[in-house]
Amino acid sequence: MTDRYAVIGHPVAHSKSPWIHAEFARATGQNLEYLRIEAPRDGFARSVDEFRAAGGRGANVTLPFKDEAFLYCRGEVSPRAQEAQAVNTLIFESGGVRGDNTDGIGLLRDLTVNLGRAIAGKRILLMGAGGAAQGVLGPLLAAGPARLALANRTAHKARALARCYRAVAGGGFEEFGGERFDLVINATAAGLADQAPRLPPGVFAPGALAYDMVYGRDTPFLAMARAAGAETRDGTGMLVEQAAESFLLWRGMRPDTAPVRAALSPH
Ligand code: ATR
Repeated sequence: MTDRYAVIGHPVAHSKSPWIHAEFARATGQNLEYLRIEAPRDGFARSVDEFRAAGGRGANVTLPFKDEAFLYCRGEVSPRAQEAQAVNTLIFESGGVRGDNTDGIGLLRDLTVNLGRAIAGKRILLMGAGGAAQGVLGPLLAAGPARLALANRTAHKARALARCYRAVAGGGFEEFGGERFDLVINATAAGLADQAPRLPPGVFAPGALAYDMVYGRDTPFLAMARAAGAETRDGTGMLVEQAAESFLLWRGMRPDTAPVRAALSPH
């Protein structure tokens, strides 16, 4: 029987994950099927239970269920999922369910391997204090930046999240005015509403990279960064890299991401 996987979220109609995993399966000669499951907002656990009962082998979890997926695993999670308090990859085994989180490593691989950007010794500004920021904060810090600042519209949320990490400074956007950063990462949902976070002017150091974790669109943040002279990237590479890490967890092999990234990148 063909092994079945799925992405579970709300909404999932526009998810690129089924296409990405189908490409990975084709390229690696793996026999698998990857579905979309739109769970009702109050029905995440039920949807996962049903998919497991129907013979599913694993799932990716996307908005807004990554916190619920963490709880669903009842402590059977990897250290990186534990740190993020969120799960984006479920592995179904005969004994139960394991949870992992590949978002942080997906971002790091895109930045360092695909884009050739160092994190060690660099000044990094991460914007946002929701799940997307929380999922990548630990891995970014572990990569050894000279400074990691966390800025959010609601300043106290950034302060609270930063307090979990001794080396991170958290606050409102205006608090980082006058500083320069080599890498500015947008982990807010602002781009989805066609808005940009209120960045203080002059945050981009010469040669800086502006990275938006939103993918498939030129967000106001990226447009603003480009106008300020920064290099810009959307989150397509991170999306493909986190998928490749999930594929590795499920299938024991890591597909080549280059053809898939090339096919999804804006031309
Ligand atoms: P996610 O899990 O995707 O991070 P979330 O937990 O709802 O989603 O968090 C959304 C993040 O985007 C928050 O940091 C939010 O800022 P607030 O904490 O102030 O709400 C940020 N955000 C959303 N819309 C924004 C906007 N228009 N400008 C700036 N930040 C925005």
